[in-house]
Amino acid sequence: MITVIGTGMVGSSTALFLALKNLDDLMLIDIIENLPQGHALDLGHAMSILGIDVKIEGSNDFSAMEGSDLVIVTAGFPRKPGMTREELVAKNAGIIVDIAGKIKKYAPDSVVLMTTNPLDAMAYLMYKKLGFPRERVIGFSGVLDAGRLRYYAAKKLNVSYSSIVPVVIGMHGRKMFPVPRLSTIAGTPLTELMSKEEIEEIVTETIEAGGTITKLRGFSSNFAPGAGVAVMAEAIKKDLKKVFLASVYLDGEYGVKDVTADVPVILGRNGAEKIIELPLTEDEKKAFLESVEAIKTNIGQIPKEYL
Ligand code: 2OP
Repeated sequence: MITVIGTGMVGSSTALFLALKNLDDLMLIDIIENLPQGHALDLGHAMSILGIDVKIEGSNDFSAMEGSDLVIVTAGFPRKPGMTREELVAKNAGIIVDIAGKIKKYAPDSVVLMTTNPLDAMAYLMYKKLGFPRERVIGFSGVLDAGRLRYYAAKKLNVSYSSIVPVVIGMHGRKMFPVPRLSTIAGTPLTELMSKEEIEEIVTETIEAGGTITKLRGFSSNFAPGAGVAVMAEAIKKDLKKVFLASVYLDGEYGVKDVTADVPVILGRNGAEKIIELPLTEDEKKAFLESVEAIKTNIGQIPKEYL
């Protein structure tokens, strides 16, 4: 069973993408009375129309996650227009601590995927609170940021999305580090295919994508996060050993310790089974470390009583 905790915009979109992929039974949990049950019914009707036989249920009781091998946490406050992800630290930390206690109790063997912002700091807090092996606590945001870089690069170069292997590492936030030199089409770096100005443009568009959506429609993204979580869930459930950019706890890799940041990982049944260390240049290493420092600042803002 896959459990989705939090059924707001991101949680409900995640549930839809997961149902379409028909990976396993779905349990939707939210503290808002009747909301997950309503979503489960509506999604069930949708699957009936599509002819996809997947069981979807909703509950306000956290014990309903019992037996889940994959738990997806989307709960927490999202960004409002003009807000940074960082402003959410204190608001969402309490929610994460509470949910970590429930996961420990009801799904102690699960892999946990996180979308709550600020992503890297909340994934760090979840990792610390759960005490699970680090492979089993994963932040999803690298997939989102890389998907955005790929989108903007594909538009500029007029190639299909899937022809581009994008690389974005570090933080999910304004200090994220898109790496055009390591983002390739047929083995050719984007830096060889675009002018410096064009590269700067797609990098800026990628960094600002979340904020652009929030400004345009008054609330933050949900479809792309849902899609990102679903492809990661598929790799975990099907043990695909597929490479994704994801936020994981680093313990010496890339020369950093005791921090959670986006790096390439191999996803399989046991979660982030392997961390891949990219061959960064000295300048790129510096940029990555700056990004990591910004994550550490967010982690430093988690109220002490929670850590
Ligand atoms: C985004 O980048 C909400 O952080 C999320 O769209």
